[in-house]
Amino acid sequence: MYKRGNEMDTINNEKKKVMLSGIKPTGDLTLGSYLGAIKNWAERAEQFDCYYFMADLHALTTRNDPATLRRRTLEQLAQYVACGLDPQKNTLFLQSDVHEHAELGWILNCYTMFGELSRMTQFKDKSAKNAENINGGLFTYPALMAADILLYQADYVPVGEDQKQHCELTRDIAIRFNNLYGETFKVPEPYVPKVGARIMDLLDPTSKMSKSDEIGNGRVCIMDAPEDIARKFKRAVTDSDTEHCVRYDPQNKPGVANLMSIYSAVTGESFDAIEREFDGKGYGVFKPAVGDAVIEMLRPIREEAGRIIADKAYLREIYTDGAHRAQRIASRTLRKVYKKVGLVEKPF
Ligand code: TYM
Repeated sequence: MYKRGNEMDTINNEKKKVMLSGIKPTGDLTLGSYLGAIKNWAERAEQFDCYYFMADLHALTTRNDPATLRRRTLEQLAQYVACGLDPQKNTLFLQSDVHEHAELGWILNCYTMFGELSRMTQFKDKSAKNAENINGGLFTYPALMAADILLYQADYVPVGEDQKQHCELTRDIAIRFNNLYGETFKVPEPYVPKVGARIMDLLDPTSKMSKSDEIGNGRVCIMDAPEDIARKFKRAVTDSDTEHCVRYDPQNKPGVANLMSIYSAVTGESFDAIEREFDGKGYGVFKPAVGDAVIEMLRPIREEAGRIIADKAYLREIYTDGAHRAQRIASRTLRKVYKKVGLVEKPF
């Protein structure tokens, strides 16, 4: 078993702020989820008390093959670790292992309004795309997400742009509950990175790079082979004008702007510096350069993830330990909530 790194920190250093986030194991992790979320998580372990989980209960809002969902959940955990999330310094767990998520999710459903849920853009998008399976879970999804966050009294929730609306609803739910019952939940802040918050599809730069996109040629996954990544970037859509120059103009050149965002998030260079670097060089030089930068960033991650995925006992140890640590905090919040809303104290 692990030395309980951040459990000790929580006890010894009450002032450490809490950071929490999750990803649904519904597909291979993409460059979007890496640059928009995980990359920023790995840099925070010393400064914050960090909780990251596989949002497997959220994954059930769409239909999955059960064996594939199980495999992806564990692969995602291996990829978290390979991306630099040290399981001793971060609490890594599976959402379904901590039953308090589902329990608080139900309670918060009762404090979330139909109108609020109806306004969620993700619900509108997903139900338009999946007209044959608009289930209750898809609709009430943000209340479960609020439970995920509020159980741990999180201060910051690092997410990409698309999850900001859900984080804002979480704040509204927390404030509403606190107003009714007195201070119960910390009101969390979404933390959206400046670059990488919205990585777009390489073939359709007007829609976000999504892990559940069926075809996959416009989407780069962190486990993709280098030759596939190189091919996808060579085929990336740029623009239809004849200018052929690398200039940041998301309105008129969304494909080029997306490639520049990726290059900037990977290399740390500003848009101005990128424009200067590729001045007069054209897309034939620019696109492979972005591909190469991504390949080199992902290479060690892919190799390490492969090693970890093969070690089932190690993975089990990580998520068992993580669930214990997470549950200690989650159960404390849930007890408080049960009492506030008028449920009889648990006899066990
Ligand atoms: P999910 O699984 O769709 O995405 C996981 C994280 O990756 C970010 N992301 C992106 N960022 C930039 N560009 C992209 N193309 C891109 N695609 C995905 C997302 O913004 C997200 O941060 N509901 C959440 C999972 C969740 C959660 C939570 C997150 C459940 N409970 C509590 C935070 C806190 C979701 O579906 O993310």
